[in-house]
Formats: sequence, C-alpha cells, structure tokens
Amino acid sequence: MKQVILRDQVVSLQNKQGLLLHPMNGLDEMRHKYISCLDLNKIARSGSVVVLDVGFGVGYLSALFLDSLWKINPQCKVVIVGVENDSEVLESIQTAVMPLKSFGILKSVLRGEKYPFLEITLIKGDVRTVNVDRNDVDVVFYDLYPPTAEREVWDAQIFLKLGLCMKLSGVLVTHSGDNLVRQSLFEVGFVWDEVRPSGRFGVGTIARKS
Ligand SMILES: C[S@@+](CC[C@H](N)C(=O)[O-])C[C@H]1O[C@@H](n2cnc3c(N)ncnc32)[C@H](O)[C@@H]1O
Repeated sequence: MKQVILRDQVVSLQNKQGLLLHPMNGLDEMRHKYISCLDLNKIARSGSVVVLDVGFGVGYLSALFLDSLWKINPQCKVVIVGVENDSEVLESIQTAVMPLKSFGILKSVLRGEKYPFLEITLIKGDVRTVNVDRNDVDVVFYDLYPPTAEREVWDAQIFLKLGLCMKLSGVLVTHSGDNLVRQSLFEVGFVWDEVRPSGRFGVGTIARKS
C-alpha cells in the first residue's frame, strides 16, 4: 500500500483505488468526529466497554479511543471487535506507525500478547455479510469510506444489523454527515445528532437506538 503523510505528520495508507484510510487533517479530525462526542467519563467510570470498530483499518481509531479512555481510567477493560475486509490493510497493521502508546499495546495484543485491560477480535470480511454475533456493544465506530466512494455500505439494512449488536444504551458514531446516511439510520429506528463542525473539520453523526 502507498504511504501518505497527513498534515500532522502521521503516516497513513492509500488503497489500490487511491482511497486514503485516514482524514488528510490527521488524528485530530478523527478525535473530533469519533471521540469528542462520546461520554468518556461515564464509559471510564463503568469500568468496561465493548467497541465494534467497523472499518478497523490499521487500528488508529481504536488506539485513539483507548488513549482517551485510559487517560481517565487506565484500568477500564476494553473489548474491541474489528471488522475489516481488505487483507492488505490487515497485513499493514504491524508496520504502521502512530505516536500513541495505546497503538503499541493494540499491536502487541494482535500479536497474541496478553494485556489485562484489552481484548481484540478481528473479523475479516465485508460488514454486509459477516456475523458479528454480539448483542452487548456499547460503541460502534462506523469508519468506512464515504458514501461518495462506497455508497453500498451506507444502507439502512446494515444499520439494522448493527443495531441488533448494540445494547439499548449503545451509540453509533460515523464521520459522515451525509443526509442519505442519516436517512438510513432514521429508517431503522436510530435517532441521530450532529457532531458539530469545528475549525476545518466538517460535521459527523452520532446515533442512538430510539
Ligand atoms: C476510512 S478507512 C478506516 C480506517 C481505520 N478506522 C483506521 O483507524 O485505521 C475504511 C476502512 O474500511 C475498510 N472497508 C471498506 N469497505 C468495507 C466493508 N464493506 N467491510 C469491511 N471493511 C471495509 C477499508 O478496507 C478500510 O480499511
């Protein structure tokens, strides 16, 4: 995969179709759209959390989440279920470089090392067809390529399936603020809120089961 340097000097990757795995603005945009809208204090206080990371990529988003959460409670137990369909992306995880200690921990857990507060299962396949087989997910990160690049993964049926994996109190977060995405969420019973734009970062969406 081709390496691309983001504005914050973090190294991202581009797939064969030229699609960039991370926003050009860098990790701050991911933090803004996916992490700042969560009630991290509440999650950290609860002592455990189950995350479904759809479009796991090389794991930067999961690492950002771990980093923010463990700053509040380093002993909060995290279970991450990642879904990723591109083998080349999965093969790039161990050589990817990201300036967070949590990313090092994530990589070591993926190599089979034990870490008391982190468990990761990676499911290789298309989110439309894989069987996630859980109903206890607290947070879904839906970080796929935007609807302009991959319209078929933003359909209501997928959100229906993900909703079944989530607890009643669960939230689904995505970088897209596209009306089609919000309509799909609404059709299958989610209520959504805008993740407000900030500086050069655009709008995102956070949805809850109604
Ligand atoms: C925008 S990138 C996400 C980057 C990732 N969150 C990270 O932090 O590294 C989208 C990812 O979703 C994966 N993907 C695209 N379509 C998919 C699908 N239908 N099912 C599962 N994964 C998919 C891509 O291969 C890519 O790694």
